[in-house]
Amino acid sequence: MTSPVLVRVWDRPIRLFHWSLAACVAVAAATGFLGGPEAIRWHVGAGLASVALVLARIVWGFTGSTHARFRDFTPSRASLVEHLRTDSPRHLGHNPLGALMVFALIGLMLLIGVSGLALLGGMFKTGPLAFWSFEAGRVGREFHELAAWAVLGLVVLHLGGVMLESRRSRENLARAMLTGVKEARPGDHPAREVPARVPLAVFFLLLAGAGLWAANASLAARPPQGLPVAFDPVARAECSACHMAYHPSLLPAASWRGLMAGLSDHFGEDASLDPVTVAEVEGWLVAHAAEEADTLPAHAFALTAPDAPFAITESPSWKRLHGDLPDALFERTSVRSRSNCVACHADAESGLFSPFSIHVPKE
Ligand code: HEC
Ligand code: HEC
Repeated sequence: MTSPVLVRVWDRPIRLFHWSLAACVAVAAATGFLGGPEAIRWHVGAGLASVALVLARIVWGFTGSTHARFRDFTPSRASLVEHLRTDSPRHLGHNPLGALMVFALIGLMLLIGVSGLALLGGMFKTGPLAFWSFEAGRVGREFHELAAWAVLGLVVLHLGGVMLESRRSRENLARAMLTGVKEARPGDHPAREVPARVPLAVFFLLLAGAGLWAANASLAARPPQGLPVAFDPVARAECSACHMAYHPSLLPAASWRGLMAGLSDHFGEDASLDPVTVAEVEGWLVAHAAEEADTLPAHAFALTAPDAPFAITESPSWKRLHGDLPDALFERTSVRSRSNCVACHADAESGLFSPFSIHVPKE
């Protein structure tokens, strides 16, 4: 009996990358699919960390040790066909099907990253792509969600593939990804041994980091598109005596005209103002109404309820956005009413309603 020959297959960076990526994707998926608005920071953090890991993996694919290199596992049609035969030689590194998975995951993760930034920028005017339009952000969201589901599907396929291959080659592939070693066997697919080139990897990582930093800085320097205007002091003073001042971008121009024409019976209250002030406030509200901003609330609330065209909280979008919240929440003393947006949206007066500014008060 000869003792088995153990070979190092997965170098330390590969193992670290693999399990860190699994953890980051798990956090991003859980917060993205299941989390509420309070999870958004974790979601964006885990997502950015995943993309950073993938970029590092790409660098390591050109500089790492033997089985880390893309060259070691780039599949060809012939290698795929061979691998599907039952008696095909074992690959110590990624087999051709696993390799397809690796490349698909890398591509999808980059797509998720870019589309996530597009949706944050276009829809929420946050981050390096804040100069993108709401419409571009919406397209970004479609890609973001599609790619997220695709990654979820790949993860399931991956787990199935690992189990099948583990059985077929009678070894625990998950453990090999922890220890890094496998038992060499006669008849294994030959590999071209190459050493890891750590200084070169560090150099490319620094280069990529500097490139990203510069790209981010130059993109972020562009002015965001369709930002809501700052509040006019007269309108704020006249319209915040009974409730928070509602930003003009939260209703279309027609609603503001109608609302200003009926101030003597304003939601059952007399909110009358002198005609000069009415004209001034109305002019400002109409000039900066929903049609003039490119934010999520401006697009969402531009469509009002026909029977309550002055009430933001009666619009179909408002009801949809807050449909999951229990009625009791709006009756808390810290909230008081659905109309008191600022109780939960710290940035309500700016008209932005960023998901990063949502804090539902505790009882
Ligand atoms: C005398 C008190 C008073 C003043 C002054 C007043 N409002 Fe109101 N407003 C109300 C009440 C009461 C409601 C009903 C919702 C609530 O309970 O807060 C309301 C609701 C609204 C809503 C609908 C909010 C929702 O639930 O969707 C808008 C928009 C609004 N007011 C705009 C204005 C504007 C613009 C001005 C300034 C010209 C103004 N209000 C001044 C009392 C007032
Ligand atoms: C009791 C707390 C509360 C009040 C009051 C409230 N909201 Fe919200 N709002 C939320 C929560 C929580 C979400 C996130 C819902 C989700 O993601 O499931 C949200 C989401 C939104 C969104 C979607 C954008 C985003 O960042 O997710 C907009 C726009 C919005 N609210 C506008 C308003 C406006 C306008 C008012 C006042 C007329 C208002 N809200 C009052 C809690 C509140």
